[in-house]
Amino acid sequence: MSIRSNFPSAPAVTAEQIAHAAELLDAGQLVAFPTETVYGLGGDAENPEAVARIYAAKGRPANHPVIVHLAPHGDPNYWVEHLPADAQKLIDAFWPGPLTLILKRAAHIPSAVSGGQDSVGLRCPSHPVAQALLDVFGARRGGHGGVAAPSANRFGHVSPTTAQHVRDEFGDTIHVLDGGSSDVGIESTILDLSRGFPALLRPGHVTPQDLAGVLGVAPRLPDGSDATAPRASGTLKAHYAPRTPLALLPFDALEPILSAARDAGERVALVARKSRGGRWASADGVHFVAAPEDPHAYARELYGLLRALDRADVSRILIEKLPDTLEWIAVNDRLGRAAAAFEARDASAP
Ligand code: TXA
Ligand code: MG
Repeated sequence: MSIRSNFPSAPAVTAEQIAHAAELLDAGQLVAFPTETVYGLGGDAENPEAVARIYAAKGRPANHPVIVHLAPHGDPNYWVEHLPADAQKLIDAFWPGPLTLILKRAAHIPSAVSGGQDSVGLRCPSHPVAQALLDVFGARRGGHGGVAAPSANRFGHVSPTTAQHVRDEFGDTIHVLDGGSSDVGIESTILDLSRGFPALLRPGHVTPQDLAGVLGVAPRLPDGSDATAPRASGTLKAHYAPRTPLALLPFDALEPILSAARDAGERVALVARKSRGGRWASADGVHFVAAPEDPHAYARELYGLLRALDRADVSRILIEKLPDTLEWIAVNDRLGRAAAAFEARDASAP
């Protein structure tokens, strides 16, 4: 028997490979696995040593919480003090899928998984390989197993959307299940329901409008001004960065930079929607990448594109800033954080 992802070209993962990976998790070891958003670096969520191994592998500070992944038949009640009615409504609407809920953690769940905070982040992924792994691991834990998994990349770097990306990050030190390319391409939407009002901590494929449609109220948006917001590494200003300096500007502001780079004989990458690229799409010295016009397609390609540009022999990556509308909020968020990593050494200047 084999478990295929939604992609016809995705490699098949066998039941034996799943059983082996579940055994590794059971023994406190790490396994990287595909999800529909990005690949995760998984460990037993109730084993603080396994969680410590995740932090060590990523080089991530130990006070940053990680998301607990549950099987489709897993019981969220096991992990939380109390499951609010709003959480149940969102679970019914969006699980399995790219939505993480932050809730008050049950007292018997070790605090290591939430970086010492009193909450826990829960998500049920829709990728069939993730589900198979979570099912088999869960069965070894009397049905209650959860897999703690941040994105399978080194801290601050671009999240992986293929098994090869994971290998590029960790070499062969981490066991990887290959389930093909992640369909969503950016990390899950994170909604905090632990503080009495719904607050979006990280935008993603599930949009604020989608959430409002189920909750009946719009979630508070992340604007950096909420001092009571919990720590979340994906909410750090500089994150998701490639190695090549990156600048994010409206297309009009990019044109003079492109002209100056051309005059200086500098080779730069330009990422813009095809409809916008104009004469720069074929200009000498410009490595033009035609980005998708649609936000979901853009998200799917974003991280692979940034990784490819790190290998493209360009001195800078110039990216067209997308419209300031809710449909682009998740893509703009990731691009903004990638650019923020280079603000100190202004990548829009030569
Ligand atoms: O799509 C995803 O969410 C991927 C895949 C693997 O599921 N995972 C992911 O994990 O993006 P990570 O650790 O890279 O980002 C998870 C975010 C972090 O910013 C973390 O701090 C936040 O979720 N988070 C997890 N538990 C939390 C909690 N209890 N309170 C606040 N934030 C939490
Ligand atoms: Mg991450």
